[in-house]
Amino acid sequence: MKRLYDLLFGDPKAAYARARANTTPADTGIAETLASLDGKDSFHFGSLLNGAPVRLAPDGLGHGLTCGASGSGKSSALSLIIEGFAAVPGHRAEVIDPKGETCIVLAEHAAMTLLRLPQPERETFARRFQVIDVRADAVTPANLFTVPPQMSPALLASLRASAMVNAGEHEFSDLMQHGLFLVFSVAIALQRGVTKKFVRRLLLDDAFRQHTLAPKIHDAALRDSIEHLDDVLPAATRQALVRQFDMHLSTRLGRIWFGLSPAAVARLAPALPDARIVIGNFGPSLLLSPSLARTQAVNRLIDVVTATMVNANPVATLLLIEEIGTIVRHPAVARFLLEGLRTLRWKLLSIVCCAQDPTNAIPKDVLHALLLNMRWLLAFESGREDASILLPYLPPRASEGERKPAFLAEMATLPSQHCYFLRKGLPPLRMKTRDLPDPKTTGKSRDELLDIFYSEIAAHSMVRVADAERLIDEEERDWISGDIPPQSPQNASGPAKDTVRTVDDLFALLGRNKGTGDPP
Ligand SMILES: Nc1ncnc2c1ncn2[C@@H]1O[C@H](COP(=O)(O)OP(=O)(O)OP(=O)(O)O)[C@@H](O)[C@H]1O
Ligand SMILES: [Mg+2]
Repeated sequence: MKRLYDLLFGDPKAAYARARANTTPADTGIAETLASLDGKDSFHFGSLLNGAPVRLAPDGLGHGLTCGASGSGKSSALSLIIEGFAAVPGHRAEVIDPKGETCIVLAEHAAMTLLRLPQPERETFARRFQVIDVRADAVTPANLFTVPPQMSPALLASLRASAMVNAGEHEFSDLMQHGLFLVFSVAIALQRGVTKKFVRRLLLDDAFRQHTLAPKIHDAALRDSIEHLDDVLPAATRQALVRQFDMHLSTRLGRIWFGLSPAAVARLAPALPDARIVIGNFGPSLLLSPSLARTQAVNRLIDVVTATMVNANPVATLLLIEEIGTIVRHPAVARFLLEGLRTLRWKLLSIVCCAQDPTNAIPKDVLHALLLNMRWLLAFESGREDASILLPYLPPRASEGERKPAFLAEMATLPSQHCYFLRKGLPPLRMKTRDLPDPKTTGKSRDELLDIFYSEIAAHSMVRVADAERLIDEEERDWISGDIPPQSPQNASGPAKDTVRTVDDLFALLGRNKGTGDPP
């Protein structure tokens, strides 16, 4: 009798224990997932359909992938994660947003928070942000030509060239890629910005190249390439390179981003020692062409990853990369990101990639490698192909045959904010993200909030376009006169003995130093 009772109603002791823990048998795995995500400094991310809160502990997060249809709630969810992460003392968040929309969500939210603070606290709050953006009259300067410690100038030049190739709409020939590499190599060797005049002088003006440029270059191999550039690059390739740079440098902002020398950036760029959230808005606009925007997004990725590598005292950092498909188009950039994912966890870097439709937007092998390195997946409304990404991670069930189509059908019709949060190895959570505060409650329109963001917060990071242009003009005047000042000590001696020359070497070196706490 007892056995029949247990069979029908379960073991009463166990049932009582479950009731006390407020779980049902089907929920036991869910409770385990909730507990594993929660922990020190956790923040409220959303709730299960039964109302149970889902809390995320920043330190346990690790790398993640977010996907879902347009408007399904990815950016809003990611902004909850960014703010929750950066709210913990000693933690930082970085956003690289090639679309610019997540930045707008973050900007609106930052402006709303600022408005709620008493006046004396607003300045401190504003200085928690560094904003990389462009406006008609202001821009955040970028330093593309300072070689990070331990990196060879050649590796930096090849990464900057890859960033430009990655952004292009068409294939670049090997010769064109080599030409881009040489242009960046010379700019790095001489610690100069790349301007249209510089590119023309370097590629088309034989006398200037031979007599003025080459003698200033200490690296013998690079000097040799520059002295024999006519042999290295046919005239048609040099002309094509000039056109390529003309296109990139045709806007005022393109000219500033590429044209500022490291010395000029040091003079202009404001110090923001308290910045804990770096918002990189690389959304194309009338001011910023799509290809320049993509190039700079990749350059930023290169800078964040290399800065993390060489940082002897790493800070827990969450790097969110929106529209990952546009970032990993060039194999060199994809490899750079993947190596970062594989090796930088011990440097406390968590990378979160986001895509509307990863199966379509990301090359198969790159997606496969991303998935291998991810600790969690956050999937909103998704079509069959993208939802299938989750299938291998779902716990097996007896009714597998029926469950798979039911799951795919459910994923295709998830309402906005509804999603599956999957921590690998644990049952997934079917949940809804927490509501962001409604901007309307401030009595301000979205445009007014963005104005507040730019004038009170972003203004600390940006400089006047006119000031940057003046510095570039001054430096160009020296350049045209042929009066190239002596090199900085960093590059004057050529590459140091232990510098690394390839991405593989760089990450290998990093591996050797792993765990020592010393810079590689
Ligand atoms: N957590 C949330 N709180 C409040 N509103 C939300 C939330 N998530 C989504 N929304 C609403 O849905 C809209 C779209 O959300 P969101 O911009 O996050 O989607 P997305 O998935 O990033 O879309 P896209 O792929 O086009 O960038 C938001 O403008 C907002 O109105
Ligand atoms: Mg979005």
